[in-house]
Amino acid sequence: MDFNKNFSNVSESYLFAEVANRVSKYTKSNPDKKVIKLGIGDVTLPLVPAVIKAMHGAVDDMSAKETFKGYGPYEGYDFLRESIRDYYKSNGVELDLDEIFVSDGAKSDLGNILDIFSDKNTVLVPDPVYPVYVDTNLMAGRKIIFADANGDNGFLPMPDYSVNADIIYICSPNNPTGAAYTKAQLKEWVDYANKKNAVILYDAAYECFVSDGDLVRSVFQIEGAKTCAIEFCSFSKIAGFTGTRCGYTVVPKALEKDALSANKLWLRRQSTKFNGVPYIVQKGAAAVFTAQGMKEIKENLAYYMDNAKLIASCMDDLGVWYTGGKNSPYIWLKCPNGMGSWEFFDYLLNNAQVVGTPGEGFGKNGEGYFRLTAFGSREATKEAVERIKKLLKK
Ligand code: MLT
Repeated sequence: MDFNKNFSNVSESYLFAEVANRVSKYTKSNPDKKVIKLGIGDVTLPLVPAVIKAMHGAVDDMSAKETFKGYGPYEGYDFLRESIRDYYKSNGVELDLDEIFVSDGAKSDLGNILDIFSDKNTVLVPDPVYPVYVDTNLMAGRKIIFADANGDNGFLPMPDYSVNADIIYICSPNNPTGAAYTKAQLKEWVDYANKKNAVILYDAAYECFVSDGDLVRSVFQIEGAKTCAIEFCSFSKIAGFTGTRCGYTVVPKALEKDALSANKLWLRRQSTKFNGVPYIVQKGAAAVFTAQGMKEIKENLAYYMDNAKLIASCMDDLGVWYTGGKNSPYIWLKCPNGMGSWEFFDYLLNNAQVVGTPGEGFGKNGEGYFRLTAFGSREATKEAVERIKKLLKK
């Protein structure tokens, strides 16, 4: 037997595992210090009452012979897919039910979708980028090319027609930079993908934070996207499902090549390798899209965005350059005093006991930048901001 040698091309630990290792080492040697974690984008508010109520009801369903559920449909229960379809409709996007696939999260699907594409495809990813896009393709041995995102283009690279790519990753609002493409910019990407016969793997996990009118919540709000895009979304950020696990992927039937349909291939892949998301979790997810669920969820999203404002205004006070924090829960800042991103990580951890994510972990263009998340509790965010101000004002 031989192991997959492509694994030698990925770093030994996943970025957030590396951050966790360093923090755990620090806390072991400094047990008396209170560390505030604004590193990984993990939520801190509990599931909203509407979701909990629906999940309790589903637990009761499982206790009675008449309502008990065994294996569910591979693509997810209709009740959840119908609510997702209606949510898209409210954003002006018409979907057929069989274009929606429920899963245990966007991260899994973003990796798993690669099963339906040839290993010979060339992949175009922005740099910096959510490490999952790069690592999963490295593991499969695909050729990766990078589109430079940097201060000059506002961390929003645009298509270059001299570059040929087959699979293109776009995340907007972006993780890690918080920058978001306008409708007009996304239209340029959609036109490029259609022209090049490429597919856009569009990560919409942060769509719920969009507030500006010239931004979209779904790539399918852009004309032409159904022939070139697959969209991944998640209940993690909108509804705090990071530990509960539920997401969905939209694979349009119009996405075809050589008489093969992406939608059919994905269904075949999922029905072979995936047995669906628990009924109880899907019932909770469906409650997110009810009027009561949405009302409660909007309060949570506003809470996180108020945290983002606190962090952003701290950076304003300190005169530190940053992007994000407006249509996104991430603040992407330039490390002060020319520090490198891991250097700033250590400096902040050792001197203020605040954890963020070093930009370099998201790609070479992330060097010299740093990401803070607004998903912490209000108390922790306030305290972190005070500590950062005190440290950097010196
Ligand atoms: C992040 O911090 O980038 C995200 O929480 C990671 C994820 O969603 O998998």
